[in-house]
Amino acid sequence: MADTGSDVLKPLRSAASGPLSGRVRVPGDKSISHRALMLGAVAIGTTEIEGLLEGEDVLHTAAAMRALGAGLERGGNGVWRVQGVGVGGLLEPAQVLDMGNSGTAARLLIGLVAGHPITTFFTGDASLNRRPMARVITPLERVGASFVGRSGGRLPLAVIGAERAVPIVYRLPVASAQVKSAILFAGLNAAGTTTVIEPEPTRDHSELMLRHFGARVTVERQADGALAVSLDGQPELTARPVAVPADPSSAAFPAVAAAIRPGSEITLTGVGLNPRRTGLYQTLVEMGADITFENRREQAGEPVADLRVRASELRGVEVPPERAPSMIDEYPVLAVAAACAHGTTVMRGLAELRVKESDRLAMIADGLAACGVAVEAGPDSLVVYGTGAPPPGGATVATAMDHRIAMSFLVLGLASSAPVTIDDGRFIDTSFPGFVGLINGLGGGIEAVG
Ligand code: S3P
Repeated sequence: MADTGSDVLKPLRSAASGPLSGRVRVPGDKSISHRALMLGAVAIGTTEIEGLLEGEDVLHTAAAMRALGAGLERGGNGVWRVQGVGVGGLLEPAQVLDMGNSGTAARLLIGLVAGHPITTFFTGDASLNRRPMARVITPLERVGASFVGRSGGRLPLAVIGAERAVPIVYRLPVASAQVKSAILFAGLNAAGTTTVIEPEPTRDHSELMLRHFGARVTVERQADGALAVSLDGQPELTARPVAVPADPSSAAFPAVAAAIRPGSEITLTGVGLNPRRTGLYQTLVEMGADITFENRREQAGEPVADLRVRASELRGVEVPPERAPSMIDEYPVLAVAAACAHGTTVMRGLAELRVKESDRLAMIADGLAACGVAVEAGPDSLVVYGTGAPPPGGATVATAMDHRIAMSFLVLGLASSAPVTIDDGRFIDTSFPGFVGLINGLGGGIEAVG
């Protein structure tokens, strides 16, 4: 595990090298990995998982599920067995649950324990403890749980779970799969139907995996176009094998690197292509990227394909704001592609970027400006003026404990005139262990500084 607990930063530098080439598999999907451990823990029987992401975020979830009474065993690389305790069977943990850097781990698990008559204490690192939790606390109070947290409901947070969870109907005020999932997971232990109404569709891995384990989940379109997602409470979840696809959000980094580094051609195998996750790829194709989706297949209810990416000239585009939920984690690396494109790329509807692992809108804008790329950031928008040539680079970029900012600027360095240094690469391990080795194995030039 990376030493994210210590204060020693780990600067990394990336420089233009030759073209990227090769065939690789990026690590397992982070969203699906968290859900497989959590739902496996409340299923009856043993859930066999392969391809689990063994990044720090997911390892925090694994430790938490053990503390809540589930049996977890690591069989080998990405192969895990989870012995579930059944819906309603989680036990009160003796220790504070530390969710590290992971908003998904924290919010989904707060939902799951809110439906149990137990008291649980949550904390995280400095980044997670700054992030808003009121968005899950508000609906979960209606389920019957109560909370003691810091201002704005921030972590550290005590969750006093509902004695008897109440099924609720809740309309999401922000497009958030984490909030949707937290409510559905609390509803697992409620007698009756829990409904979450989402005005804009967000990733549906929770719905797909709940069904995979035997729950009844229905989705109905409302007159106003919103989706009503309903879960019948107190299902008997049955352990099922889960094969985790490669993470499309992690694949985004080598994909953009190959698209912007002249002469490159790479294949990324087994990438999950759930339609609620593919906004970046759609946008890259609109920009003129040469991406083909080969060997399309299905894995544990999720569509998967091999992505072949060849370098090409990119041009700026306007990204429709309604696409944001399907690529919310990919704006940092899209901004890097936009920096290398001909013309202007306009991105709107990005308010949520301000409350991710860092204020990503500000970090992207500051980092690009430091690397000599013209950029304008508004409260929820970003305009990048593409250089149409290698961007100047030559700067040290701050990453603010944010793995995706770190990886995005290392990708920029691969196509810049002068190397790009990031101040701290430790957080890359939260979602993409082995990132530097994988990029260098394709021909990239990332190295430790000092
Ligand atoms: C996630 C949902 C998204 C995303 C995060 C993972 C999930 O967050 O940014 O990395 O697994 O549900 P929001 O739901 O808060 O947008």
